[in-house]
Amino acid sequence: MAERNGWQAMDDFICTSLLPADPVLEGALEANAAAGLPAIDVAPNQGRLLHLMARMCGARRILEIGTLGGYSSIWLARALPPGGAMVTIEAEPAHAAVARKNLVRAGLDGVVDLREGPALEVLPTLEGQAPFDFVFVDADKPNNPNYLDRVLKLSRPGTVLVFDNVVRGGQVADPDDTDPNVIGGRQLFAALGAHPKLSATAVQTVGAKGWDGFALVIVG
Ligand code: SAH
Ligand code: DHB
Ligand code: MG
Repeated sequence: MAERNGWQAMDDFICTSLLPADPVLEGALEANAAAGLPAIDVAPNQGRLLHLMARMCGARRILEIGTLGGYSSIWLARALPPGGAMVTIEAEPAHAAVARKNLVRAGLDGVVDLREGPALEVLPTLEGQAPFDFVFVDADKPNNPNYLDRVLKLSRPGTVLVFDNVVRGGQVADPDDTDPNVIGGRQLFAALGAHPKLSATAVQTVGAKGWDGFALVIVG
């Protein structure tokens, strides 16, 4: 698909122009591939977007749901000021094992608390770390509406929430689509739109990871 080649070329241009070479992040992707993890991490320019957003809101406590090999975790943890802290949740032990090594290599194992287990079980245990300032939700998409409910309990007015993969090649706009990931996406939009204390939008993205998008939310 010609468009897709153009998206990839523009992503390459953005990354080459704006992102310095980063052996730690590149090494994490290499370790993920060597361990057979799926290459579903955020793209480098998206990782930097998350990093910039966390800095823009001055985040001191960050929560991530869905670690995989810790690629996005590294981007986010690097946004923290001294004394900041991050919790990331991963259900799959094999993914968590790779992420732990990547976080050590990044020098971030003292900053990032990686919790292993299904996020719906881990989230209620995090009340002592709350409120979080910035939350990135990027795990099993059918649970996105549930993650919204649980994360709001760990938020304060002004907390910023970012949900990944809310567009899915435009499928989320199709009411007849029966993919559970798509249904989770539609339910997330419905919950965000109906909630009186949330201001939300979504941005579509094209690039190395295809056509997808982020939902951006501020808790009122
Ligand atoms: N944020 C990562 C990519 C995450 S991929 C990055 O951009 O680098 C999604 C991850 O969510 C996978 O590792 C998957 O194992 C994990 N996951 C799926 N269901 C989960 C659940 N119920 N609780 C916690 N993690 C889950
Ligand atoms: C998938 C999950 C993701 O978080 C992502 O960014 C891309 C794809 C997936 O499960 O296919
Ligand atoms: Mg994702």
